[in-house]
Amino acid sequence: MPRRPTIARSLAALERTTARLRWESGRIVLVPTMGALHAGHLDLVRLARMKARRVVVSIFVNPTQFAPHEDLASYPRTFEADLAALAALKVDLVWAPTDDIMYPPGFATRVAPEGPATVGLEDKFRPQHFGGVATVVAKLFAQVRPHLAVFGEKDYQQLKVVTRMAADLDLGVTVIGMPTVREPDGLALSSRNVYLSPQERARAPSLYRVLKDCAARIAAGQPIAATAADGAAELERIGFAVDYLAVRHAETLQPIASVADGPIRLLVAARLGQTRLIDNIGM
Ligand code: PAJ
Repeated sequence: MPRRPTIARSLAALERTTARLRWESGRIVLVPTMGALHAGHLDLVRLARMKARRVVVSIFVNPTQFAPHEDLASYPRTFEADLAALAALKVDLVWAPTDDIMYPPGFATRVAPEGPATVGLEDKFRPQHFGGVATVVAKLFAQVRPHLAVFGEKDYQQLKVVTRMAADLDLGVTVIGMPTVREPDGLALSSRNVYLSPQERARAPSLYRVLKDCAARIAAGQPIAATAADGAAELERIGFAVDYLAVRHAETLQPIASVADGPIRLLVAARLGQTRLIDNIGM
């Protein structure tokens, strides 16, 4: 049995352990998560391992990034299994704060990200989301004070928002992105995939396939707007309710008129029944 990581559940315990880790190795890398860890999360941890000798993983289901109608209450929680997986990867410290530690009575400050957080993608459908993400990530960075932090490209807009925030607020953290980990059929791994019925699960890989088809058509010279509209229509035919299928500049996430204005990122969000899936690819 691999040794369990140290688990910090109070700010005092976190401070004690991160001070030791910093003294032992000089460099700490943080992987923020909401738990329910899958192979995608674990690849982030493996990348973290390669980047620094001491790895901290945070597990906190952050209430401020969920809207009242979203799945905060039912979000999967698998703490013991998460710990076992992190122990196998020799993670040094798991930071598992309670809601009260993160948001004590009287808490009254919120980070308001702009730029990539206000481009009409996730922000249009989840208006409070990136404010909640930016606030909790700023707190995690202030608490753990890592040199590096690893985020997944799976949540591409989040990666851009967090990268911008860390630079803008001089948080002293370099953010690194990690390519999306997928099932063999192409579906991006997500803690929310457990919500899919067998029939929905069978349809879900179309999201990635349609993104790839759109990228191939755009690369072959087809017009961008019409290609995106065709892709969305195809997803609707398969049974998705499409929130957006967008072709954007890969860095600013602003709309893009031609391939020459690239690099390009294609991003999609669509619902299958009750489950909302997001995905993206570069080209
Ligand atoms: P969570 O959804 O748990 O994701 C934690 C990290 O894992 C994120 O950086 C996410 O992009 C990455 N990830 C998820 N699925 C992935 C996949 N299939 N391949 C590669 N990386 C993947 O994102 C959050 O938590 C929260 O918003 C958080 C940043 C922790 C703030 O609360």
